[in-house]
Amino acid sequence: MDSERLFARYRELQRYVEWTEEDVQAIHAIRPLIEASFPELVEDFYEEIQRHPDALKVITGGQEQIERLKGTLVNWLKELFSGQYDEDYVVRRWQIGYRHVQIGLDQVYTNAALSRLRRGLMRALEQNWPATLQELLDARRTLNTLLDLDLALIEDAYQSEHMFRQQATERLALIGQVAGGIAHELRNPLNVIKTSVFYLLNARNPSPDKTAKHLERIEKQVGTADEVIVALTNFAKMALPVPAPFDVETHLKKVADEAELPESIQVTYDCPAGLPPALADASQIDIVLGNLIRNAREAMPHGGTLRLAAEPDDPFLQITVADTGNGIATEALPRIMEPFYSTKARGIGLGLAMAKAIIDKNDGRLSVESEPGRGTTFTIQLRSAVGEP
Ligand code: HEM
Repeated sequence: MDSERLFARYRELQRYVEWTEEDVQAIHAIRPLIEASFPELVEDFYEEIQRHPDALKVITGGQEQIERLKGTLVNWLKELFSGQYDEDYVVRRWQIGYRHVQIGLDQVYTNAALSRLRRGLMRALEQNWPATLQELLDARRTLNTLLDLDLALIEDAYQSEHMFRQQATERLALIGQVAGGIAHELRNPLNVIKTSVFYLLNARNPSPDKTAKHLERIEKQVGTADEVIVALTNFAKMALPVPAPFDVETHLKKVADEAELPESIQVTYDCPAGLPPALADASQIDIVLGNLIRNAREAMPHGGTLRLAAEPDDPFLQITVADTGNGIATEALPRIMEPFYSTKARGIGLGLAMAKAIIDKNDGRLSVESEPGRGTTFTIQLRSAVGEP
């Protein structure tokens, strides 16, 4: 947690709810009227918790812990009315939410408990109010706002911790997928090697021809395993981009030429005259275009049209690689850029993951749309070099 950021956020929320120095003064005035009811409110708070097993289960230290917690809650109330809403205050209040997340307290109980506390505070205020009804309404409004600001801090803590845990879970799932992918890709060649080695070790009087055939198989499979490792190493060692302006149309044509597409695939180019240069690492973008064009070729085994286009989309430049091929199944679409997620019979499923990683590193965006049976369109957004220093 970044305390400066948190405090800035709190200040922003204060402005949002129009919290002013007058509210601070009002809180000062309220405090002596309701301070005497703090112990009673705290007793009620913990009595109610005991009636809710899901809330109660986070209290693991029995009565002793409850007694200690009563003390911390009284202090919490005193601080609430202290009028000192500085950075330390905000951090301490945020940490309460964080502590609740750590002990596994469901956020709804914090909300319900605060709501009950709020009712108790309002009741105490009404019972002891010495002035007019209008002034009571003003005081209630101020107190409600202060409690809402505190609740916002607790919720912020819940949210950041929740997001952190979700990201960690997603990372773990991805590691599992990558590990599974590597295992899958290496198992095949290793199995073939194992069978050939078994033959070479155990065959009685193998013919020179057979021996040579098995040795060749072993060599080929070692090559396949090596390709997997090279692809992985390239993925892991991807260099930092060196951005410079480059002409998109020239690169689209160059990469399409290098792909040596069959004649059954018709390539069309659609780049308006005066298209501004893109700002990215051209050699890395070539890898992406190469991967996308290869994918398009594989999606059109019986031919079709490959449309390569670019257009300005201020302040970006949009490149489109569209085919009229098989398309991608709707359920597969959200996952095709994950490493080792391959729907192809051949190919290890790193091409699109690599493309996405390169575009991310180049400050761009890669997206895809597809219609099964009709084709797929990949869109790359890159920064345009126009207006760059
Ligand atoms: C508005 C609602 C609540 C407030 C203002 C509040 C306040 C606090 C405070 C000030 C602490 C001490 C934090 C620290 O050690 O840094 C704490 C911790 C704790 N709270 Fe709450 N609490 C609330 C709701 C609840 C509820 C509904 C439960 C349900 C059982 C609960 C259970 C606990 C527990 C088990 C701890 C950990 C105490 C320890 O470390 O031993 N709290 N809370």
